[in-house]
Amino acid sequence: MRVLVTGAAGYIGSHTAVELLHAGHHVTGVDDFSEGRRGIDADIARITGQPIEIHDLDLRDASAVNVLLATGHFDAIVHLAGRKFVGESVREPLLYFDRNIGTTVPILQAAQTFGVQQIVFSSSCTVYGNPTHLPITEHSPLVPTTPYGFTKRAIEQLLADLCVSQPELSIMSLRYFNPIGAHESGLLGEEVGGIPNNLMPFLMKVATGELPEFTVFGDDYDTPDGTCIRDYVHVVDIARGHVRALEALETRSGFSALNLGTGVGRSVLEIIGACRAATSHDIPYQVHPRRDGDAVEVYADPQRAAEEIGWKAERTLEEMCADHWRFTVASSRRGSMS
Ligand code: UD1
Repeated sequence: MRVLVTGAAGYIGSHTAVELLHAGHHVTGVDDFSEGRRGIDADIARITGQPIEIHDLDLRDASAVNVLLATGHFDAIVHLAGRKFVGESVREPLLYFDRNIGTTVPILQAAQTFGVQQIVFSSSCTVYGNPTHLPITEHSPLVPTTPYGFTKRAIEQLLADLCVSQPELSIMSLRYFNPIGAHESGLLGEEVGGIPNNLMPFLMKVATGELPEFTVFGDDYDTPDGTCIRDYVHVVDIARGHVRALEALETRSGFSALNLGTGVGRSVLEIIGACRAATSHDIPYQVHPRRDGDAVEVYADPQRAAEEIGWKAERTLEEMCADHWRFTVASSRRGSMS
């Protein structure tokens, strides 16, 4: 298939481009490089042995998007572009509506104009908000609690409505749980500057010594060790989920949403232990008060993804930590050489 990947220079996008190329698809990328790394196309080509073009383009520019789709003859779009920082979305809701919804409308309009009928959308478990029942199934209530979550929920609704109005469309929304890890080559991973908001990049910076200690947000939750529980899933497994989804779309129509998670919840202290083992570094931490808005426990029921697209997370927590560490070490070497 000829596939357009939006957000191809980002964390999930670059891994997804690699897996699509490995699966034999022809991939074109687009990214505005606000978060994505320039030069990542060369790393993707190094891993896959195949060149990839990533157009520098703002998806809010409807005429540029039209030109891209008019010339690309795409069979499918994997739409990953968007901003994803929960705290930032609370501070700047307009930015999130502009960058997430405002980028999605032109690409969907162009898809309609040029007859692209298969779409995979990057969603998040954040659409469920604070779950009342575990594990989370796709039928769990959708009650996002932040502007970021609302944008994902709103786009899913738009995609579902589009499928009603155009029965020939085939669209799948993938709700990622907590993607961590990196490509085993050490060439692709999540680049995070400054003090990270998310668990894994923060732990890695403590392991390298760049930050002195990790902050555990609360150890007085009603969980076995008192810390919050999440469903961490390897980014390469997530990337492969897109390949499976795309291939499944060829023989179906309508909208569906699938959880991409392992089905296993891990506590913050368990992740610290796994990172200590993977990095062979002590990771000092202090317990601080709970972080506002944190759900206690979040993990997926991934059964539907297994049934509908034959996807199952395969990589272990040890692999997630080891791969994330390899990328962290390799990227800090690259940084000190440049
Ligand atoms: C958030 C987003 C989610 C997104 C994910 C990864 C919400 C509510 N959450 O998830 O959509 O997929 O980021 O981008 O929408 N923790 C610490 N100390 C830290 C950082 C985190 O103890 O310095 C703990 C948190 O309390 C939490 C766990 O680690 O229990 C994971 O946190 P984080 O990596 O920020 O992800 P989430 O908040 O689960």
